[in-house]
Amino acid sequence: MEILKLKTITEFFEKGLEQHIRYKTTPIELMEPMTYSLLNGGKRVRPVMLLWVLAIQSMDAVKAGLNTANALEAIHTYSLIHDDLPAMDNDDYRRGMLTNHKKFDEATAILAGDALLTDAFGMIADDDQLKPEQKVKLISLLSQAAGSVGMVAGQVFDIQAENKTITHEQLANIHFLKTGKLFLFAVQAAAIIANLTASERQLLETFATHFGRAFQIHNDIMDEIGTPTETGKKTQADSELHKATYPALLTLEGAKEALNSDLEKARSALNELTETTRKPYDSLEVFLQFVTLEQ
Ligand code: IPE
Ligand code: IPE
Ligand code: MG
Ligand code: MG
Repeated sequence: MEILKLKTITEFFEKGLEQHIRYKTTPIELMEPMTYSLLNGGKRVRPVMLLWVLAIQSMDAVKAGLNTANALEAIHTYSLIHDDLPAMDNDDYRRGMLTNHKKFDEATAILAGDALLTDAFGMIADDDQLKPEQKVKLISLLSQAAGSVGMVAGQVFDIQAENKTITHEQLANIHFLKTGKLFLFAVQAAAIIANLTASERQLLETFATHFGRAFQIHNDIMDEIGTPTETGKKTQADSELHKATYPALLTLEGAKEALNSDLEKARSALNELTETTRKPYDSLEVFLQFVTLEQ
């Protein structure tokens, strides 16, 4: 489909995000640290995946999904700001720039994260393009994806697993919770906004679950073998903190095999989606570049 270009959809999202975040009467002292992290160089994989699934349906569906995509990116951004704090991963750089607490200070970074998290739910609640019942479903799902049964739970287990040996199953669960759940939300949100059938939604969920795990395994591998220029952050940071990661648990080769296995499963979900719906879901293959290692 000609319309489906990663660059086009990413730019479309980027423009909407900037307009959306600036309309509020937020004090400048808070707006500055919020926009520092929100508008600076994220790859936008989660919101663009949401919009991509909607673009497969119709351009009207894409427009209807914009606020929800903004909300998802706001929550992702908050999770990174807090993840980098000294009490968590203690990172000084992200996306090649100072982390939020290094640029501002710790209290400001905590509060900017709090504001992004809280505002995200308002972005969906105040959306005048969606039906009330769609908004309630989206808010409920986003709460499940991000909160105490989702991303935050994953972050708790991730911190607890430092300096410990855990099983492969436990690690897969941490990755699913801390990273997979927000990707799962991206496709679930698209299914709600576009009223997709249960079987279509289920296959999309299978795709997003494998993609999400592959995304975190790729992140772990790049921490081990990448350079700060490639990743925009300090590398070998996981081993310094004795984090539970795929390379630490399975060796680098084992981690690469696990990544490839999830990639294959993600791909086969896309093939099945394309065959059963006759819609161009195979175009979602373009997202696999984010988790593919250079040879
Ligand atoms: C980084 O996510 C954190 C993980 C869950 C692995 P991204 O790689 O999507 O971060 P940005 O937003 O593009 O910097
Ligand atoms: C980040 O995981 C996951 C969340 C912020 C939810 P990591 O700590 O492994 O990611 P990076 O390496 O800091 O981006
Ligand atoms: Mg972390
Ligand atoms: Mg981290």
